[in-house]
Amino acid sequence: MKNIKELDLKDKRVIVRCDFNVPFKDGEILDTNKIEMSIPTINYLLDNNCKVILLSHLGRVKEESDKNKNTLEKVAQVLSKLLKRNVKFVCECYGRQVKQIVDEASLGEVILLQNTRWMDYPEKLESKNNEALAKFWASLADVYVNDAFGSCHRAHASTAGIAKYLPHAVGFLVEKEIKELDILIHNTPRPFTVFMGGAKVDDKLPIIKALLPKCDFLLLGGGIANSFLKACGVDVGKSIATTDEEVIKELKTLLSDYKEKIVLPKDSVACDGAIMDYGEKTVNKYQEYINESNIVFVNGTMGKYEDDDFKKGTLTFFEMLARSGKSVIIGGGDTVSAVKKLGFEDKFQFLSTGGGATLEYIANGKLEALEWME
Ligand code: 3PG
Repeated sequence: MKNIKELDLKDKRVIVRCDFNVPFKDGEILDTNKIEMSIPTINYLLDNNCKVILLSHLGRVKEESDKNKNTLEKVAQVLSKLLKRNVKFVCECYGRQVKQIVDEASLGEVILLQNTRWMDYPEKLESKNNEALAKFWASLADVYVNDAFGSCHRAHASTAGIAKYLPHAVGFLVEKEIKELDILIHNTPRPFTVFMGGAKVDDKLPIIKALLPKCDFLLLGGGIANSFLKACGVDVGKSIATTDEEVIKELKTLLSDYKEKIVLPKDSVACDGAIMDYGEKTVNKYQEYINESNIVFVNGTMGKYEDDDFKKGTLTFFEMLARSGKSVIIGGGDTVSAVKKLGFEDKFQFLSTGGGATLEYIANGKLEALEWME
């Protein structure tokens, strides 16, 4: 796999896949970390007088109305401020007009195309790595750069398929993340503990299954913990939890196969019949496992930290981790956002832009999209 310094980029049209899947609240970007992390690669390309065409996904597009909810327009504005230059936002990511706008742009310009997942409705083209779509994006440029570390566990048209049609390399962010993770996880010091929180379990089930044989303890919080508790027969009321019977069956199997590894919360904070946070007894219990660990990977939060009433579990968990003196890797846009919001930005060893990607890399030692690169 090449890095961008190994490519001849002078005066080239370069299409770059970034991960601008940033957290939003009330229509505003909550945390710009992922956008900031893309700047070194973009600036390097501009220094080489390239035309820079940027691609990214944002959220999921499952129906027409998801399109307007998931537009990259605000990202273009933030990017423009960070780069101190105009970023041309194109409100589509596919078609004749897009091609024309990109073709007419000059060297030295930065163009951000609309959310690549707009091509997931009505038919899943981006997520199913559609060849014609990958070819279209490739037709806009001379070179492809993958700098979307957080999306590298997905072999989609913009992260993987496109690499077939253009000379390609990884950007500085992908290079940096892999390097840092390699140092931290190479011959992973044991015990190795993973904390997983966040809303959905269905999505993360494959990675949970891949991780369990590799880690020593899996501590759970957020909606994932709710789902596991539900699988244990606990009445979680209106809490965010899986409703898929197949998933519940799989969770039951995991709970019995890995009873020594999977650690569940002990107390919770509820509101209107839904668990919103986990409490002090849970953090104290988790502390016993952290004390025994050498390295801890954290993806997700204890509860709904964005809400002041339910941030305590996450706050005390972070305080305990910061005091522990252990190597702590924080992974994922929302988790990094929580760390920053609660004031722990410089308290942990490494903040990774990848959530699923970092977990995948730790569990399997490879990332699907990067397998498409020579
Ligand atoms: C992330 O935020 O973890 C990445 O951007 C991947 O997002 P996805 O799970 O929607 O593919």
